[in-house]
Amino acid sequence: MKNQIHVIPKPVKIESNSNSFLLTNDTKIVFTKDIEPLGECLILLLKSATNYSLQKKKVENGKDIKTENNAICLSLNDSYKKMGPEGYFLEVTEDKISISSISANGVFYGIQTLRQLLPPEIESQIKSDNIIWQVPCVKITDYPKFLWRGFMLDESRHFFGSEIVKKLLDLMALLKMNKFHWGLTNDQGWRIEIKKYPKLTEIGSVRQASQIGGFASPFRKRDPHGGFYTQQEIKEIIEYAKQRFIQIIPEIDMPGHISSAIAAYPELSCREERIDVPYTFGIKKDILCVGKEKVFDFAKDVLREVIELFPSDIIHIGGDEVPKSRWKNCPKCQRRIRDEGLANEQELQVYFTNRIIKFLDEHGKTAIGWNEFLGDNLLETAIGQYWMKDFDAVMQHLRRGRKFIMSKFAKTYLDYNHGVTSLKTVYNYNPIPKNLEADYHENILGIEAPLWTEWVASKNHLERLTFPRLIAIAEANWTMKDKKSFEEFKIRLASFLKRLDFLDVHYAPLWIADPNIFVKLIGYISFFLGTFDIF
Ligand code: ACM
Ligand code: ZN
Repeated sequence: MKNQIHVIPKPVKIESNSNSFLLTNDTKIVFTKDIEPLGECLILLLKSATNYSLQKKKVENGKDIKTENNAICLSLNDSYKKMGPEGYFLEVTEDKISISSISANGVFYGIQTLRQLLPPEIESQIKSDNIIWQVPCVKITDYPKFLWRGFMLDESRHFFGSEIVKKLLDLMALLKMNKFHWGLTNDQGWRIEIKKYPKLTEIGSVRQASQIGGFASPFRKRDPHGGFYTQQEIKEIIEYAKQRFIQIIPEIDMPGHISSAIAAYPELSCREERIDVPYTFGIKKDILCVGKEKVFDFAKDVLREVIELFPSDIIHIGGDEVPKSRWKNCPKCQRRIRDEGLANEQELQVYFTNRIIKFLDEHGKTAIGWNEFLGDNLLETAIGQYWMKDFDAVMQHLRRGRKFIMSKFAKTYLDYNHGVTSLKTVYNYNPIPKNLEADYHENILGIEAPLWTEWVASKNHLERLTFPRLIAIAEANWTMKDKKSFEEFKIRLASFLKRLDFLDVHYAPLWIADPNIFVKLIGYISFFLGTFDIF
């Protein structure tokens, strides 16, 4: 009988038979010299659970691995060019395992697949006794459908810290996800050290209480909530992500959702009145005053430090939910509208955004913004991120050649409970709009699942909302549409969840994640009444 292969995301092509390779203490790890760190990474991955001290062997090039036996061989090989830098070929025979790709990234993904071919106990952080470390014989050819396979974490509303972020990056890597969009600023907390503006973190990173129970709720948790990353901590996290082939895209949200900065520097707003870092959630009226040049200086100074810190060629500049009431009543903003010949406040937002996009362009960086930042005159280079409303504008921009990341709220927002956005809904999300002509499909870069954390205050709640739905997002991004089936995915998921048990992940059980009609109903009621965090 053929071996059952339970890999997520599902690979492009799998051939298997009933034989297997046996990993023993004598198995060698062989690698070509240019990918030594991956050899080390594999030895480390296999070490805790097996307690094996696997020997390593460095070879000159791919040809030298042909004669190896009882070995796991990693090599770079130009013949896999067609699969792209993230593609790989993995072959398991009774004698050896080989993983080859045109790039280190592809070999790394081959290693993630190999992890999933081993028993789930391989993820154990302590030695697992009485396990036979068998790997089924397979030939796997694999590469992703979408280039952008993203997860977003809002750390403004709740700050989680390096350890939790690193764990999420580990899990993303296991799922072959490659973009971590890091929400470092928003109304309720500024979380990144900016040396030129120390009050951003001295004042802007702490709020005195937190609203609980939903947007309309009068209830508060009375403890202060704070925290931020120093630039040194951020560098360490960037390096950690890089080793896992994950790009970190920082978001500095502007010109709205920026009360934490206004609390620190009131002169950035139209009215210049002192405000506290808000402890209620929802949209706030005080935003950056676009009539003042010093506001542009501030934005550029902050971005200069961000650019210096993050190697990412992409910076997220927010642009979502910008209420225009302050601009309507501000003489300076109104003067700007007149001087620049703008039609209204929406055009003023485009004017502001264009100056920021241009600044980033000059520093070799591409801007991304939420879809509310769109306008006829928005500079072409910026990437859009769709979440809600104005879908006609999104379609128009896609047809003009603008690239988009797709995060439709009802299909991808992980802060919505499983009753509202079930595992199945997430799994079946197709980011390519039905009416979009084939010529423009390449403008859809992929899916990103955001986790907003207004109502998420603990690590366990964060993990329960994120898993298993992020696993479904990973497959929706990687696997070709005609290869996907939710029922079959659930069979593989059962194996994957055993791995998460060993990795100490507090995922939602399937009776919640894949709810029947009654559980769904309770999920909806809970959503409208405010959150019960069991969902
Ligand atoms: C958003 O959910 N405000 C992008
Ligand atoms: Zn103003």
